[in-house]
Amino acid sequence: MKYNKVVITGGSSGIGLELAHLLQANGCQVVVLSRSVGQLAEGVLHIPTDLRDLGSIEAAFDQLGSIDALVNNAGIAYKSSMIDGDLREWDEMWEVNVRALGYCSQLALRAFPDSGGQIVNVSSMSGHRVPPSGGFYSPTKFAVRAMSEALRLELRARGSMTRISSVSPGFVDTPLLDTYFKGREEQLQQTKETIQMLQPEDIARQILHILETPLAVEIGDIGLRSVGQSV
Ligand SMILES: NC(=O)c1ccc[n+]([C@@H]2O[C@H](COP(=O)([O-])OP(=O)(O)OC[C@H]3O[C@@H](n4cnc5c(N)ncnc54)[C@H](OP(=O)(O)O)[C@@H]3O)[C@@H](O)[C@H]2O)c1
Repeated sequence: MKYNKVVITGGSSGIGLELAHLLQANGCQVVVLSRSVGQLAEGVLHIPTDLRDLGSIEAAFDQLGSIDALVNNAGIAYKSSMIDGDLREWDEMWEVNVRALGYCSQLALRAFPDSGGQIVNVSSMSGHRVPPSGGFYSPTKFAVRAMSEALRLELRARGSMTRISSVSPGFVDTPLLDTYFKGREEQLQQTKETIQMLQPEDIARQILHILETPLAVEIGDIGLRSVGQSV
């Protein structure tokens, strides 16, 4: 593995949890930033962090010291309507999915070695097309895609060797969907049965592939859906 110390935001559940264990098995020192510790295995360092709180993010990075890679994975998905959605849900999605991703990236750049590091942003297919009635979640993921490209261009202009990559999954079978389908549990069950969703390890493997790619190669975005998902 090219990267020794890897930080994962939101590694207490779903994709991040699977990734933490996969990277640990591949010899990385893994540090997870999330509010809860979840089912994290021993040996993975957990720093309790609320990504909605800028001071909490700063305190976490103060503890980290130097790092080699950051995976901006944490995310929240409410099905919150553009017409009459609850702005408190918009705030939470904006603060976790967008602002924290940008701020963690800024702080990670200061903690990377001079030779450069790697940032991987977990976006979504909802950052490439707007799902009907997907509400405010999709705009936050469009923002992630634009931020990845904006940061990449700034880094290239400065001659930095830090690489920016992203992954954009379709439906993945994680607790995030319980929030997104709240009040529509039958539809969630039906969707799971119909399309056979991606599993967290499918995404974790793509992120491992990004981290293992030769340093002169920068992967842009990896899009993936289950074969059963049409859009
Ligand atoms: N599941 C899907 O269908 C799907 C599809 C496309 C993209 N994605 C993206 O994949 C990423 C991971 O999601 P997942 O599906 O694995 O969801 P998940 O199982 O619900 O995990 C979300 C993670 O985000 C963390 N998080 C949420 N709010 C936080 C906060 N305020 N401070 C710190 N950590 C916070 C949670 O940790 P704590 O609660 O412990 O803080 C948890 O570890 C997200 O960016 C999501 O948008 C998911």
